[in-house]
Amino acid sequence: MNFKKNILCIGAGYVGGPTMAVIAYKCPQFRVTIADINPARIAEWNSDELPLYEPGLDEIIRATRGKNLFFTTDIQRGIRDNDIIFVSVNTPTKMFGAGAGMAADLQYWEKTARQILQYSESSKIVIEKSTLPVKTAQAMENILRNAHSFTFEVLSNPEFLAEGTAIKDMENPDRVLIGSRETASGFKAREELVEIYANWIPREKIITSNIWSSELSKIVSNAFLAQRISSINAISALCEKTDADIIEVARAVGMDSRIGGKYLNSSVGFGGSCFKKDILNLVYLCRHYGLNEVADYWEGVVKINQYQQERFTLNMLTAMFNTLADKKICLFGVSFKANTSDTRESPAIFIAKKLLEEKAEIIITDPQALRNARADLAGMEGRVSFVDDPYKAAAGCHAIAVMTEWDLYRDLDYQKIYDTMIKPASLFDGRNIIDHRRCHNIGFNVYPIGKPALTHF
Ligand code: NAD
Ligand code: UGA
Repeated sequence: MNFKKNILCIGAGYVGGPTMAVIAYKCPQFRVTIADINPARIAEWNSDELPLYEPGLDEIIRATRGKNLFFTTDIQRGIRDNDIIFVSVNTPTKMFGAGAGMAADLQYWEKTARQILQYSESSKIVIEKSTLPVKTAQAMENILRNAHSFTFEVLSNPEFLAEGTAIKDMENPDRVLIGSRETASGFKAREELVEIYANWIPREKIITSNIWSSELSKIVSNAFLAQRISSINAISALCEKTDADIIEVARAVGMDSRIGGKYLNSSVGFGGSCFKKDILNLVYLCRHYGLNEVADYWEGVVKINQYQQERFTLNMLTAMFNTLADKKICLFGVSFKANTSDTRESPAIFIAKKLLEEKAEIIITDPQALRNARADLAGMEGRVSFVDDPYKAAAGCHAIAVMTEWDLYRDLDYQKIYDTMIKPASLFDGRNIIDHRRCHNIGFNVYPIGKPALTHF
């Protein structure tokens, strides 16, 4: 079959997989190939057991795989045969050398740029889908400039999807952002990408800008979202000292239409692979440009997030008579948010490690993320166990700590759970999703976030 466009995505991760699957699903006239250096990951994408859990993804993969969506490790051929190349490789925080712990590690991205240069046999549009520091496109251009007989046009098209709602976000995004050089060839390439998205997204939602604004807008969007969570979490600490209730405060504040009610759920802290790394990258960039006050301002967002996780652990210790040694604590949820199997930067992993330092025994339950959690906590077997069934996980424990806002944990039979636990039984709700009053009446000592504790002492 002759396809109208041949599209390649390099990087078959949480972004590359779902975004390209949706493009293939919405545009059967295009052939979409996803290439990755990790053969195990590609094998999983080609199997019935996908490498990640994302609601709605299975159905889309089943409808497109082998028809107009293909997964491969043959990057060389992918680059040669496709004219439009998305780059969606990982850009984690750099952990060595200059900028360690702050800057973005661009080694995977740069290797990809060099591969594109090495294997290309014709002109191409190269699209940054990974989240990158502002001005990265210039480096990409400088690498790709070395081709002799053809040209590359670099675009920035950052991804705004959130895990757990990736398919919904791709199908119906708030906006799609495309940045380009403001040259004739830049505008032409930009228009070609607009045309792809316009197959299912209304044109007024596809916005364009200069390439630097596009790169920067992505990091700033994440910084603003994370800032709201740190703002509400900072106030949750004050609520706990003053008998104010963070849910009531968030409702009252969020009803101001200038502020809005979203992203005001107080929690055990934000997790995920991106918020922290993108803000640290923003902080690093600001310091690089000598903007130390601006850097300090944004660094505060990460510091409060760290503080919230440490505060939560310390509250557990204090509430449980200042010793956790040999106590059994059950963590409800280990993914960094509901509806994903992803545990990257999950507060649950951080808290599990802190509790282990206190010599507690940890039992972790989660409907999707136990496989990843096992890998994260490898080497700690013996003090940590993983149990699918939350009732069995909590039985015989001194405490439960709710880490992830999975709906499942709202609706459990807490009387049945209480009956199997060691008394006094404590319930720490790091997401404020449980019926606190009811659990208190059952007999639990209940410790929400940002609300007065309900105890029997
Ligand atoms: P990921 O780690 O899940 O996937 C990246 C993939 O790239 C891996 O499978 C890796 O093997 C592959 N890769 C690395 N170098 C390669 C190379 N040279 N050739 C081929 N493949 C290579 O990462 P992710 O979560 O998909 O994130 C990718 C980018 O998207 C990051 O910049 C991230 O900040 C950004 N982003 C992520 C999300 C999200 O929800 N996870 C949302 C928006 C943006
Ligand atoms: C986030 C952004 O929402 C996406 O727009 C962005 O594309 C993505 O980062 C990225 O660049 O990787 P994601 O991290 O998948 O998406 O999930 P979110 O729903 O934003 O949640 C992030 C964390 O904040 C989770 O741990 C979540 O539980 C927490 N959170 C969220 C709160 O604690 N309170 C809230 O009110 C909202």
